[in-house]
Amino acid sequence: MEKGKFIVIEGLDGSGKTTQTNIITEKLRAKGINVINQAEPTPHEFGRMCREVLGGRKKVTKSQFALLFTADRIDHNINPEDGINMHIGKGDTVISDRYYYSTLAYQGVDVGLDWLMSLNLGCEDIRKPDLCVFLDLLPEKSMERINANRSEDEIEIYETEEYLTSIRKRFYNVIDALKETENIVVINADGTVDEVAEQIEKAVMSIY
Ligand code: TMP
Repeated sequence: MEKGKFIVIEGLDGSGKTTQTNIITEKLRAKGINVINQAEPTPHEFGRMCREVLGGRKKVTKSQFALLFTADRIDHNINPEDGINMHIGKGDTVISDRYYYSTLAYQGVDVGLDWLMSLNLGCEDIRKPDLCVFLDLLPEKSMERINANRSEDEIEIYETEEYLTSIRKRFYNVIDALKETENIVVINADGTVDEVAEQIEKAVMSIY
């Protein structure tokens, strides 16, 4: 049986990842492709710890935080019940809302990028995606969407315009560093939902 595809959707908080992941999932399913929709942090042990830190309920150092996301990613790959390897082995497509590009961009602000790169890209248990779609949106637009959709106590530690500006810059550094060795497509997320969805479909269909 042919192996399934592994697709990652990345972008700033508020860039429309969830909406667009749902749309492309439906489009692929309509073509008869079996799609598993997942996200990082995962709902498993390390992912839950990441969410506690993000929500300010748990304190860890910056390097520990990077390791937690990476440990969660290893579990996301190898988990025998719902891991990427298992699904792909069955021929299903896995779409992940966030992956190592997020660690490189978000934690790369705080700890060394070289260390994070070797930790993630050099790890035999962390698969390289067939495609990464980066939904690009200006930080002020991200903040508008975040503020419109969530109550104040739901806003996570990274959701300020100043912080998102530095994260976006870092995403660009990461894309620049990886563009020769990875399949990364940058899409302007400031269009209508349908316009953005159409571009994503084009990028996704190019790997089938
Ligand atoms: P989300 O569920 O809204 O995508 O939020 C996840 C948050 O976690 C988001 O602010 C980005 C952050 N994050 C990291 O800092 N590093 C990572 O490796 C991942 C996967 C997420």
